[in-house]
Amino acid sequence: MNLIKSKQRVVDHGEVFTPPWLVEKMLDLVKGETERIDSRFLEPACGSGNFLVPILQRKLAAVELKFGKSDFEKHHHALLALMCCYGIELLADNIAECRANMLEVLADYLALGADDDLYCAAAHVLSLNLVHGDAMRMRAIDDAPICVVEWGYLGKGKFQRRDFRLDVLTGMASFSAEDSLFSTLGKHEIFTPAKTFPPMSVHDLATANYGMGASA
Ligand SMILES: C[S@@+](CC[C@H](N)C(=O)[O-])C[C@H]1O[C@@H](n2cnc3c(N)ncnc32)[C@H](O)[C@@H]1O
Repeated sequence: MNLIKSKQRVVDHGEVFTPPWLVEKMLDLVKGETERIDSRFLEPACGSGNFLVPILQRKLAAVELKFGKSDFEKHHHALLALMCCYGIELLADNIAECRANMLEVLADYLALGADDDLYCAAAHVLSLNLVHGDAMRMRAIDDAPICVVEWGYLGKGKFQRRDFRLDVLTGMASFSAEDSLFSTLGKHEIFTPAKTFPPMSVHDLATANYGMGASA
């Protein structure tokens, strides 16, 4: 496996990929979390998904163990597994590869075709969760603040979406520091979503075209 694409990209963007054996060793350090369907992972310089792809594979193995016998539950929990994977990447070709790699893993697992609702819903989720942007500045490529979508599974085929600003989420630690002006505020007062959506089905997600921070 090539760990670099070009010397220039190493110089310009520090682009050196982590070898798979090391990724697996690192993921084993948090093995329990990687095998939990709804644990959330954010990789702030995700490249083409060297960490996110095996994380998704581990989550899907957990889906198979827990829901393998029910097609309905298996499909919805597999989508939830995908919904819990997040990445930010500066380079357009890398983020496109990352989205494609993640979609391929899900599609292979569920034997999906490109016309299936679940395939389109997953592509929509990936366009939101895998952000083309600058993780240091917390800005998407169009310079809008990066938003993070919190997905939840409500059961019976419905998903909840709430959007948060990444700079607000990452600022929470300092907000709640003991000597902060805001230390007397409850977390709920800071942890307010920028937007909350009504519950959505896979079909709703498949046909959704309202975007947010989903720079292509
Ligand atoms: C060292 S590589 C790691 C890729 C992947 N995480 C891995 O371990 O294989 C760093 C990646 O971060 C991206 N990158 C560099 N600066 C970035 C920034 N400010 N925001 C987001 N991504 C960035 C590069 O384009 C590159 O894909």
